[in-house]
Amino acid sequence: MIQQNLLQLDFGDAKSVDDSLSAVARGMVGSEILKIAADIRQMVRDGKSVCNLTVGDFDARQFPIPTVLLEGIKNALDSGETNYPPSDGVLELRQSIVDYIGREWGVEYPLGSILVTGGARPILYAAYRCVVEPGDKVVYPVPSWNNNHYTWLTGSQGVPVPTDVDNGFMPTLDLLRPHLSDARLLCLCSPLNPTGTVMDEPTLRSICEAVVEENARRTAAGRPHLFLLYDQIYGSLVFGGARTHVPAALVPEVAPWVIALDGASKALAATGLRVGWAMAAPAVTARMKDLIGHVGAWAPRPEQIALARFLADEASVSAYREEMTARVRMRLDGLYEGFSAMADDGYPVRCVSPQGAIYLSLRIDAIGREIAGRKLETNDDIRKLVLDEAGLAIVPFQAFGLEGDTGWFRLSVGACSMEDIAQAFPRLRALLDPLR
Ligand SMILES: Cc1ncc(COP(=O)(O)O)c(C=O)c1O
Repeated sequence: MIQQNLLQLDFGDAKSVDDSLSAVARGMVGSEILKIAADIRQMVRDGKSVCNLTVGDFDARQFPIPTVLLEGIKNALDSGETNYPPSDGVLELRQSIVDYIGREWGVEYPLGSILVTGGARPILYAAYRCVVEPGDKVVYPVPSWNNNHYTWLTGSQGVPVPTDVDNGFMPTLDLLRPHLSDARLLCLCSPLNPTGTVMDEPTLRSICEAVVEENARRTAAGRPHLFLLYDQIYGSLVFGGARTHVPAALVPEVAPWVIALDGASKALAATGLRVGWAMAAPAVTARMKDLIGHVGAWAPRPEQIALARFLADEASVSAYREEMTARVRMRLDGLYEGFSAMADDGYPVRCVSPQGAIYLSLRIDAIGREIAGRKLETNDDIRKLVLDEAGLAIVPFQAFGLEGDTGWFRLSVGACSMEDIAQAFPRLRALLDPLR
């Protein structure tokens, strides 16, 4: 029932309030993907059929979390596990993570290396915050996810290094080397969001060795060291011949300078549970823990307790992973095969064979062409065309820091069914027919 006579608040002119906020707050760029999501919602409201390949999230009907984990969370709640967790994470979970890393990569981290947080984002932010001073250089390949936002938030100087399809959009040591001597942080991610590609072992090894060599020079010169932020959040989602490699296992000497991160969000389709973890030198996690503590970005306690038990249950972890990988792969392969068949039939499309994560890189070579009365001058023109006319929702690589209208897009399969994919191809073929 609506109550009468409530005091109505007047927040005045929104612009003059906004003008009084900090330069950091006012300069933040909103998520491109969320803007596209608004277009999609409108189409769905208009009753149109959309194959939504935009969000890096999961539809729980297509990708449910493990049942054992779900039951574990309910049990933890029922048993009153509802208070603050310890600021570095529940001990049982940190121990399970140590064991999990040992099983997966043959590396033994001490407990003090593991910091549990509310999803992986707080680790990214805390790593930036704990390593860089304003103005420091942060090197990262593009396309990649959100580094532009973290450099902005920390006042650091981003050095985006463009990559290309010939290397699967992965950086090589040759591309990175010119920037390492005066950088404080190098950010890598594999499998990579947005491309769905994986860094091979020789490349990662060579980059780690270069970080070790650079830091030997800095030790001799008494300069602050170069850190490597290594994002392996999609590490358990690899297919075909691809494998996940981790810096500390390949080049143990790099361990003091690596801040690696992982979590439940993608591996267990559990983005809403908010559990991530850092693996780094205890001297680094100690500082990050204090920072996270002040922000309060801990993972919820019931989720931590349940995840500790789930990760310790090797049989459940591997059964879930097998099923999850098969579901992701079926969708990515469906898209890859559909676009490859279109390319064979003369359509101007190309995609990169999927190796990992939940993404596929697709190029639609249509800049400068005209379809359905629309002149296509930018990636965004192409994005709008295929959304409006074929009900296919995709994200341009510009949303991941790669400048230029290259015709490359990210396709994400976490929220789509095989039927969605099958139904999208005839619409897309009909739309792009004039370009053959
Ligand atoms: C590459 C990458 N790292 C980290 C994250 C953050 O994950 P979380 O949802 O656990 O904060 C994401 C989320 O999309 C991601 O794509």
